[in-house]
Amino acid sequence: MKIGVLTGGGDCPGLNAVIRAITRKAVDVNGDTVLGFYDAWDGVLEQRYIELNTSVVRGLLPRGGTILGTRRGSPFDTSDGVDRVKKTFADLKLDALVVIGGNGSLTVASMLHEQYGLPVIGVPKTIDNDVVGTDATFGFQTAVQIATDAIDRLHTTAESHDRVMVVEVMGRDAGWIALQAGIAGGATAILVPEVPFDIEAVSQIVQRRHSRGRYASVVVVAEGARPKPGTLVLPARKLDRYGHEQLGDIAHVIAPEISARTGFESRVVQLGHIQRGGTPTSYDRVLSTRFGLAAVDAVHDKAFGDMVVLKCGAIERVSMSVTSGQTRTIDLALLDDVAATFFG
Ligand code: F6P
Repeated sequence: MKIGVLTGGGDCPGLNAVIRAITRKAVDVNGDTVLGFYDAWDGVLEQRYIELNTSVVRGLLPRGGTILGTRRGSPFDTSDGVDRVKKTFADLKLDALVVIGGNGSLTVASMLHEQYGLPVIGVPKTIDNDVVGTDATFGFQTAVQIATDAIDRLHTTAESHDRVMVVEVMGRDAGWIALQAGIAGGATAILVPEVPFDIEAVSQIVQRRHSRGRYASVVVVAEGARPKPGTLVLPARKLDRYGHEQLGDIAHVIAPEISARTGFESRVVQLGHIQRGGTPTSYDRVLSTRFGLAAVDAVHDKAFGDMVVLKCGAIERVSMSVTSGQTRTIDLALLDDVAATFFG
């Protein structure tokens, strides 16, 4: 078979490992041809690609980022975009396209299949872990480890100065990274988008902790966290060139508020794209590899419109349509029953 592959949306650790697994299984085991499209949908529209083989993917397993490049944007952004995708399928005689992406890319892939009958298979990726239908996305565990390592380091400098460190992590409208890294790093408080916070209550937690003789607090805040209505005003979110909301900077609002209410000095640490860069953890390498192999099987089974997912430890398939317009949010029990026990 002739299989196209693209990586879409924000990059994340493990993308190259998926590309390697797809290539090794498709080319070496099945005798397929694999074309890797550059720069997400742009490469499909413009027919820019590379033929992937064992030597091209050699050494990719531990390498962060994506050798194919990635972008936001979709064929639906222009009036002739879908026709150009169809033309690429016809010109290159593609039997299938594997889309490795997050909610945005999977929604687009699903629409191309549902509305235009294109043979597309999805592979869910993102550090945000917010894709409905799978228990986990690859990249997430690496981001959590990076954030946890950072929090560990911040404890000692915060203790030395008796400071409040406000650590902002990514995750968009889901608090997965904040929650997991916050629990693993022993956070004083964790603020997530799913539960609007009260800055006064957060400040009291910090105050209580210090009054009990503990020095230093690490408050972990997800970039998409929101205050309770009427308690704090956040600056309006900016849009990038694709109309995608740019989050970030909430820590700069929260830190001075905590200082003003408690009298403790505060500092802001925004982990930003460090969470997305570099080598994937062993967990993410294994998940990426399993997803890549399963995607090739899904192509051969003609399970078009499906994406490969992790369910209770097993790799399964579900329709990509479950992702459309959805965000998989955190398990609130983990916040209330586990994380909150250690607040303050
Ligand atoms: O979706 C992944 C993600 O890293 C989010 O956590 C974050 O809000 C966003 O991408 C950042 O996007 P960009 O790479 O465009 O700055």
